[in-house]
Amino acid sequence: MNQQKSSPTAHMTNNEIMQKLREDNDRHAATGERRRAYILTFGCQQNVADSEKLSGMCEQMGYVLTDRAEEADLIMVNTCAIREHAEQKALSVVGQYKHLKAKKPDMVIGVCGCMVAQEHRRETLRRSYPYVDFVFGTTVLHHFPRLLWDKLRSGKRMFSRESENDSKVVVEGLPIKRDSNYRAWVSVMYGCNNFCSYCIVPYVRGRERSRNKDEIIAEVKDLVSRGYRDITLLGQNVNSFNKGSEDGYDFAALMRDLDTIEGDYTLRFMTSHPKDATVALMDAMAGGKHIARHFHLPMQSGSDAILKKMNRHYDTERYLSIVDGLRARMPDITITSDIIVGFPGETEEDFEATLDMLRRVKFDMLFSFIYSPRPGTPAAAMEDQIPDKVKNERFDRLLALQNEIAAEKNQTMVGTTVRVLCDGVSKNNAAMYNGRTEGNKIVFFEGNEEDTGRFVNVRIDRAEAFALYGEKVN
Ligand code: 5AD
Ligand code: SF4
Repeated sequence: MNQQKSSPTAHMTNNEIMQKLREDNDRHAATGERRRAYILTFGCQQNVADSEKLSGMCEQMGYVLTDRAEEADLIMVNTCAIREHAEQKALSVVGQYKHLKAKKPDMVIGVCGCMVAQEHRRETLRRSYPYVDFVFGTTVLHHFPRLLWDKLRSGKRMFSRESENDSKVVVEGLPIKRDSNYRAWVSVMYGCNNFCSYCIVPYVRGRERSRNKDEIIAEVKDLVSRGYRDITLLGQNVNSFNKGSEDGYDFAALMRDLDTIEGDYTLRFMTSHPKDATVALMDAMAGGKHIARHFHLPMQSGSDAILKKMNRHYDTERYLSIVDGLRARMPDITITSDIIVGFPGETEEDFEATLDMLRRVKFDMLFSFIYSPRPGTPAAAMEDQIPDKVKNERFDRLLALQNEIAAEKNQTMVGTTVRVLCDGVSKNNAAMYNGRTEGNKIVFFEGNEEDTGRFVNVRIDRAEAFALYGEKVN
């Protein structure tokens, strides 16, 4: 049985609970300081988008957000499970909060996200982190106020249990407090049905389900009208948007409809699975007015044998045909990818095949990962796990080759003028501003505060593997 159903607040709606908490926090604020909430996010953009909803709910419940854990009354850690390292980092941070709570016993600590959607990790928290007050997985993000309220009222720890049903529903209408006022994330679908053999996501984010198209269109319209300049549509596999629906309205149709919204903005999407990349989508991109000419197309491996063991449902020939299709329509398109090195059974030849694909495709940018066995996935149980030493050595070789390719590709941009959405002053060099191109490449230039959140034109005069440098022009 679902724990929430038996909770004392079962009869209350989410809004009613948030209102109750708001009243409580308002009363507290009248006696001194307003309670503060601190939200720490690990992992992918989907988690960032989820955290923006946690922030929205916190504000609605009368908390002010802080970026300092030590001054918080409520700490939320939104975790990731994609690799072992991400889990270790989250657990280590949660471990540090023990001392904060010892100093401030009224502090409430919640842990949510992909890591705690796994039973064995919930068990870890239950047993070894007794000061963690409540825990919930990704499919019940909207239970956050209820669990918090139940915890505060009863004093008991709350571990939400998610049912099959929770991973089938799409909850609309949660408040969102966005981190930026010019870049926005918009989920179009949740979950994943692909079960790539290395990946934990289908187990922790549940089955694929899509948002209603009208809700998405209304959200994007609203963002554009409020001055958002860069809008990324999110889904584990955006091409599965509306899959199986009778009206045939697919992701390409959604992109075409969104593209008709008037305004000065760029539309992007993440992520697209090669097995489902359609000609209709390529055509929508090529014919689009606002759609960024950037395709992130995770290849994972350049060996057909490994792709098969990964359960990816495409081979290198199919992959290359998508790349060709994209470049035939949009010669200047930026293509980026994800690669995993050291998948079980990967031979030197398999790895060489991956390097070969890098040379053929010439990706603009790669996100490369060392294979990390995820308990419960088929690949974790495969024989021939690759020793760390070999994995690390292959990883270094992959990076070295990609650096050469990226530097070479970026070099061709020297002398061109590109449109850049400025993100403000550079973190590492206060004399420079930085921003992102349509292809999401980082560009450094001399700017001023007014440029932040705006499009500026920059003439590129120097290129490196990971960055472009230039001068602002009119
Ligand atoms: N080990 C290493 N990398 C992984 N990814 C997914 N699962 C694993 C794993 N177990 C990578 C894939 C995916 C990206 C988001 O993370 O490349 O595309
Ligand atoms: Fe994981 Fe594959 Fe789904 Fe991507 S498509 S989330 S890699 S299972």
